[in-house]
Amino acid sequence: MADIVEVISRHVELRRAGTNFKGLCPFHEEKTPSFMVSPDKQIFHCFGCGKGGNVFTFLIEIEGVSFPEAVRTLGRQYGVEVAEREVPEEVRTRNENYYRANEFASRLYENLLAGTRGGDRARRYLTSRKIPPEVWAEFRLGYSGPGREQLYRAAQKEKRPLDVLRELKLIVSHTDTKGYVDYFRERVMFPIHSASGRVIAFGARTLEKDAEPKYLNSVESPIYSKRRTLFGLHKARDAIRESRSAVLVEGYTDCISLHMNGFVNAVASCGTAITADHAGVLRRLTQKVILVPDADHAGLQAAVVAGAVLLGAGIDVKVARLDPGADPDTAVQAAGREKFGKILGGALDYLEFLDYIMKDKPPTPREREAVIHRVTAGLAEFGDRLRYEVVVQDLAKILGVDAEVLRGRRWPKRGPGGAPGAPENKAPRGTSGRARLEKTLLRLLMEEVPGAAEAREKIDSDDFSDEKCREYYKLLDSAWDENIDLGSSTFQHRAEGSGLEGLAAEIALVPIPPGDQERLLRDTLKRVKGLKIRDELDVLREKLRDLPEDSEEAVAYVEHYAHLKRALSEL
Ligand code: CTP
Ligand code: MN
Repeated sequence: MADIVEVISRHVELRRAGTNFKGLCPFHEEKTPSFMVSPDKQIFHCFGCGKGGNVFTFLIEIEGVSFPEAVRTLGRQYGVEVAEREVPEEVRTRNENYYRANEFASRLYENLLAGTRGGDRARRYLTSRKIPPEVWAEFRLGYSGPGREQLYRAAQKEKRPLDVLRELKLIVSHTDTKGYVDYFRERVMFPIHSASGRVIAFGARTLEKDAEPKYLNSVESPIYSKRRTLFGLHKARDAIRESRSAVLVEGYTDCISLHMNGFVNAVASCGTAITADHAGVLRRLTQKVILVPDADHAGLQAAVVAGAVLLGAGIDVKVARLDPGADPDTAVQAAGREKFGKILGGALDYLEFLDYIMKDKPPTPREREAVIHRVTAGLAEFGDRLRYEVVVQDLAKILGVDAEVLRGRRWPKRGPGGAPGAPENKAPRGTSGRARLEKTLLRLLMEEVPGAAEAREKIDSDDFSDEKCREYYKLLDSAWDENIDLGSSTFQHRAEGSGLEGLAAEIALVPIPPGDQERLLRDTLKRVKGLKIRDELDVLREKLRDLPEDSEEAVAYVEHYAHLKRALSEL
């Protein structure tokens, strides 16, 4: 029934690779795709983190649902009704209860918006914001009516689990009575959906002008994490993939207005700054993100940080500029589809945007410090030191600071007294994943897959970071030299003689997914060598940090550094 490629493509941008498809793994952070999907076998496998399985395993992992729920989701999508009865009560997950409670509340809010009791006030409000009824339905907008206990009463009547509603902060304990009252009252409700379209939280806007807080938001829960969620993604996902770009704004209303005007690849954060997690979600769908910040001081400053974070995830970041004081909502409503399209088309590259920020209003030293602070805060999300290094150079130029100043904030030198500064590299080149990669390489060489002979010419035993893998490779290398069959007992004995029999067994068990083996070998080799070069670059950088810039030693290091960088780009 459900084709695995189709299901996974809703979450990951897949490209054809031989008979298989390939993309960035949604289960771990990576910059080069090692996530493979086989349409023939209907399975997926990631070489980076080792996750793998069938279409159900995928849904269970990605959406945090139970097996029966995954079956139901697919059933729904493919028009097969999977009866509730088929699902044993005890395997229903806790998450399902949260989803249901939100769904229950969402329906109630939708009905209140449509209804007579106070609903007209909310309807008038939305109309004044030029959001028509079709759009209410599309985004399932609602109204938490004027009553204090509407949701609470309705839930009681239907015997809904109140503890779940309370955990989601849809109702809160009432101090005077023993009961509960609704948390959201007299607000326009913006349901926040998961990527697969279930309601996981709410943003609730006041109807009063200038009332505080303008928005009340749902608390985080097992099904809702702000730092990962993008408002509108369930509607925008396909368009993001098709248009190969996403538009990122700050407000719910901005996002909705963009959709209304045909920019259906728009998403918004949920009242938080953009995080590396958001960037990861976007990066799996597209390479390009256009930020459209509010054209006020706060909006532009936020874009400075957001841009740095997205850049760190390997995204090409553009920043569109609106007239001073405008926000995407008012801008797109005023400009209309065509003109606004031009505004997006004229978006600046992130670095140009920074340059513009720096020049537009020559910043005071304090403001410049603030910009630097924000950029480095964004850069702190970088997992890739090499990319970081390149960006730092450009940034330093634009910001007119010594690159060392930017760098120093991130990977501090050893502090006084030799105490090591706390490095906070979030995605270190993990030893376990790396050893696994090296074992995969060894397995492919052992199997003598097509291209193994050529690969051998390019490999040096020092490319292996894992000592045992290194030893094993030496063994392989000498066996090739001496024309010893890798399947022979002679080779076996040698492995045992070197105390590598354990590793030999492990390598033999490394799973090799189906597909173009030659290409797999090439990619694996590239990754192993890339990591090795990055190690060397790290060492050099460390050395350079403690040397006077113009010393002979430093110059030699810089030359070597440039050489390595070239080697890396030529891999
Ligand atoms: N936000 C929030 N809490 C607030 C204010 C804002 O969570 N008290 C979040 C919301 O996600 C909001 C976003 O920040 O959508 C942008 O805020 P703002 O520009 O103030 O609101 P808009 O969504 O643009 O709302 P409106 O157009 O109605 O002013
Ligand atoms: Mn706004």
